[in-house]
Amino acid sequence: MKPYNDAMETIQNSVLKLKEEKNAIILAHNYTLPEIQDIADFVGDSLGLSRKASETDADLIVFCGVSFMGETAKVLNPDKKVLLPIPEAGCAMASMCTGEQVRALRKKYPDAAFLAYVNTTADVKAEVDMCCTSSNVIDAVKSLKETDIVFVPDTNLAEYAASLVPEKNIIKFHGYCPAHHGITVWQMEDLKTMHPGADVISHPESPMDVLNMSDFIGSTEKMIGYVRESANNEFIVGTEIGMYHRLKKLRPDAEFYFPPSAICQTMKMTDLRTLYKSLSEETGEIILDRDIMDRARRPIEKMLTIG
Ligand code: 13P
Ligand code: SF4
Repeated sequence: MKPYNDAMETIQNSVLKLKEEKNAIILAHNYTLPEIQDIADFVGDSLGLSRKASETDADLIVFCGVSFMGETAKVLNPDKKVLLPIPEAGCAMASMCTGEQVRALRKKYPDAAFLAYVNTTADVKAEVDMCCTSSNVIDAVKSLKETDIVFVPDTNLAEYAASLVPEKNIIKFHGYCPAHHGITVWQMEDLKTMHPGADVISHPESPMDVLNMSDFIGSTEKMIGYVRESANNEFIVGTEIGMYHRLKKLRPDAEFYFPPSAICQTMKMTDLRTLYKSLSEETGEIILDRDIMDRARRPIEKMLTIG
């Protein structure tokens, strides 16, 4: 392991040096590889990352995550260069919904408010009234004055919000996250049988029956907050395996058990070499249409004001 670790440390140091020289900021999602998280300026959930992107005075933003995250950073910083080291690192759920589909739904539900999960393309964001993340979805739903709310694209998150805000009529779309939708009650119950004392904590992109058996439901950062505050030292974690690194760093005394299929391939595509190449050659620049960016900014900014 030593030569491998030494090689990794050498690339990490090169990335950090280059980052200083270029006045760049590295933002990384909680699901990215451990060696990326360890050198990022900020690691967090979608809301925290969007907030950081909106506040930064760096000249260059390098996003380690998936394309909707880089796009959101670009919309908030239209005159800055935003790099996504692997341009094809998309989000399977975001690709399930298009701007054209939202425009068709607008015609079908002319009086409804349109709320988009941040896991959408800029094209979709440009068509909606407000965006939200898994961290502030409930506050977002409550903040809309309309009773009818079309929520795209995550059917599970829509169902979760509907269960907590029954006074609203949430019209669901058919999108889902493969990594979370594949988490089953049987997997979680098996883990609970093996570790009866563990708390079950879940991400709200998971199916409703998994959420119903959970002790805590929240965004990736809120799950980390729960573990930070908890007196327990065993957790069954209903989300993507990348979270293990942050959780174990935070609570080395605790054990974390994950369902077997919760892996997001595209979150793992950015490694140290691709990050270094992108930063040094400024490859993977996110380019968006000005008009789309201008229309997508308002719903994103609304999202940043709540929760
Ligand atoms: P968070 O905002 O909770 O980090 O979730 C983002 C995501 O893509 C979950 O699959
Ligand atoms: Fe998209 Fe799911 Fe991957 Fe999150 S985990 S980026 S929702 S595919």
